[in-house]
Amino acid sequence: MPRRSVTTGYSSSHSIYIGAIEMSSDLIHEFILSTWLDGYAYAAPVGIRVARSGALKARIYRGGRLWKACATCSAFVLNACLDPRPFILSILDRSRLEFENSEMLALPALRDCEGYVECIKIGSVDRGHYLDLYLQPIHGVARRLKPYTRALGLGIELLIELTRIWVGVRSCDEIKGFLEDAIDRMGRVWVSEYVEVLRRELERACKPS
Ligand SMILES: Cc1cc2nc3c(=O)[nH]c(=O)nc-3n(C[C@H](O)[C@H](O)[C@H](O)COP(=O)(O)O)c2cc1C
Repeated sequence: MPRRSVTTGYSSSHSIYIGAIEMSSDLIHEFILSTWLDGYAYAAPVGIRVARSGALKARIYRGGRLWKACATCSAFVLNACLDPRPFILSILDRSRLEFENSEMLALPALRDCEGYVECIKIGSVDRGHYLDLYLQPIHGVARRLKPYTRALGLGIELLIELTRIWVGVRSCDEIKGFLEDAIDRMGRVWVSEYVEVLRRELERACKPS
């Protein structure tokens, strides 16, 4: 496994490389985790950080299929996607995601991402509301580069707020202003049906029951 650690210019952070995939110790990186679950390709967004040991660490909240996948599966692909569209599909319309077999472990890897990291589970700690999941990266595949777009951050932040509203850790009233502003900004930098899909899902999630 080609892997090295270098100190970067940003304070005391350092980077690890899994093949050509770079991860910085001072950032949480948003990946789309995928694996075989109950015989089907399963995918969901997950935040990943580099633990002090050099392992990759995720915090997985209890309940749902993401929890089940992380508690029961032994190997995963972390798909590195700059484009918010695969994130949106993995939450709102999974059947439209396209997969191919990963190079080493033959797990489902997303076709439409910049690259991916294949990982083996090396441990997990049940902390009640959530699970700490530890992964050993074993192989990194980098495919392409895309230029930055302002739709990146906006799309991901909106999706995160939507999933928080779903599980009740955020109230719509709390973030109404942010949601309206973010959707408005997104419409200016992203000509897409997905802006409408997100607007609709957020309106639905915020309707008083
Ligand atoms: C960018 C992004 C990052 C996320 N990171 C996490 C995470 O680290 N842990 C977690 O439990 N859920 C996280 N979520 C929420 C899950 O991906 C989401 O609840 C997913 O729909 C779970 O699928 P399920 O219904 O199949 O369990 C994240 C969502 C987004 C949009």
